[in-house]
Amino acid sequence: MNGWRLVGTLSLLLGAMALYLMASHGWDIEGVRLAIRAAARTSLVLFALAFTASAMVELLPSDATRWQRRNRRYLGVSFAVSHFIHLGAILALATLDRELFWKLTNVTTIVLAGAAYLFIAAMTATSFDRTAAWLGPRKWRLLHLIGGWYIWISFAVAVGKRVPLDSFYWPMAVLVLAIAAVRLLAMTRRNRRRAVLSDPRAPA
Ligand code: HEM
Repeated sequence: MNGWRLVGTLSLLLGAMALYLMASHGWDIEGVRLAIRAAARTSLVLFALAFTASAMVELLPSDATRWQRRNRRYLGVSFAVSHFIHLGAILALATLDRELFWKLTNVTTIVLAGAAYLFIAAMTATSFDRTAAWLGPRKWRLLHLIGGWYIWISFAVAVGKRVPLDSFYWPMAVLVLAIAAVRLLAMTRRNRRRAVLSDPRAPA
C-alpha cells in the first residue's frame, strides 16, 4: 500500500485503536490513559519510519527501504495523525480529571512538548505539493530538519524520564537511540562519498 491510501488506512486503524481502548474500559480515566500511551507508541514507530527513510536506503538499500523512502511523506503525515490522537486523549484527560492531569505533567512539559506540536503542524501543512512549492526547497529542508530533530529530542526526553521508573521503556529507548544512530551514520557515509568524489586526486 502506498501514498494517501496508506495515510487513510493507518488513520482509520489509529482512530479505531484509541476508541477501542477507551470503550473497553467503559470510557473511564484508565481507558483514556491507555489511549494516550498507545498513541505515543504508534507515533514513535511511525516517526522512526519517516525520519530514517532516506538514511535506511543509504545504509541498507532494498525493496523494503525503497518503499519506506517512497512513502516518507505519507508515513510522516500518519505520524502526525497518531500524535494528534495523543493530544486529543490528553485533552480528554485534562477535562475529565484535572488533578491527575497535573500530577502526570507540568507547565515546562506543556511548553516544550507544545512546541513539538507546532513543528508537527507546520511540517504536515507543508507536506503537500502546493504548500511545499510555496515554501521553497531550502526553507522546506530547514523546517523538516530542525522540526525532525526537535521531535526526536521530545521523544528522547519523554522516554528517557520513564526508563528509571519501568524497564518496559528500555526497548523504546533503544529505538530512540537507533533512530539517531541511523541518521548520523548515513550522513557520515554520504559526506565521505562526496569528499571522495570531489577529491581532484580521485581516478576519473
Ligand atoms: C502538550 C504536550 C504534551 C502533553 C501535555 C503530554 C502528556 C503526556 C502524559 C500525561 C503522558 C502519560 C500518560 C499516562 O501515563 O497515563 C504522556 C506519555 C507520553 N508522551 Fe506525551 N504529552 C505531550 C506531548 C508529547 C510529545 C510532543 C511527545 C513526543 C514527541 C510525547 C511523547 C510521549 C511518550 C513517549 C509517552 C509515554 C508513553 C508510554 O507510556 O508508553 N508527548 N504524555
